[in-house]
Amino acid sequence: MKEVQYNGLTFEPYIEKERIAARVKELADQIKKDCEGKVPLFICVLNGAFPFAADLFRAVDMDAEITFIRLKSYEGMSSTGVVKEVIGLSENIKDRTVIIVEDIVDTGKTIHRLIEDLKKKEPAELKIATLLFKPEALVCDVKPDYVGFEIPKKFVIGFGLDLDGMARNLEDVYQLKENA
Ligand code: IMP
Ligand code: MG
Repeated sequence: MKEVQYNGLTFEPYIEKERIAARVKELADQIKKDCEGKVPLFICVLNGAFPFAADLFRAVDMDAEITFIRLKSYEGMSSTGVVKEVIGLSENIKDRTVIIVEDIVDTGKTIHRLIEDLKKKEPAELKIATLLFKPEALVCDVKPDYVGFEIPKKFVIGFGLDLDGMARNLEDVYQLKENA
């Protein structure tokens, strides 16, 4: 695998698709166990979570539903801290087991804001599944229930994660190469 470039920045391979697939399967098995006897509703946070959500949802071989919402809090490589809801939720989540599916939890502001909103709709339980988690960057009181990979506070792209809209279609996760 080779390095890729976006916006004049160089990124190196970091988490290969085979490792992602294996981890997704493990998370799916755990979710299936935890949700026995329930029909969980997966809420995929667009745009970044769509490849992870598609794989995770198919790997969970049980009765389940999926829906999509869209929020945005990021421009370029630094969080603006401003969370805007772009596409709302139409499903009734009252008394449902809800699993929010995110690409990455960085500062945690996005997921925190979303949780506060969803709690008002009185779900039976609210869980967070995220492909990537940067514990060192966390500034909010949130704890993801299902984490694909804990990673250091470095910018990553691929497998849904973007740099100004690009690179989401890379099959693997790439990390910004320092001093490149
Ligand atoms: P948070 O609100 O700071 O947790 O940021 C969450 C959102 O920021 C994610 O859903 C991503 O869209 C974006 N984000 C955070 N870190 C990265 C990264 O390393 N690469 C690409 N997007 C990121
Ligand atoms: Mg996102």
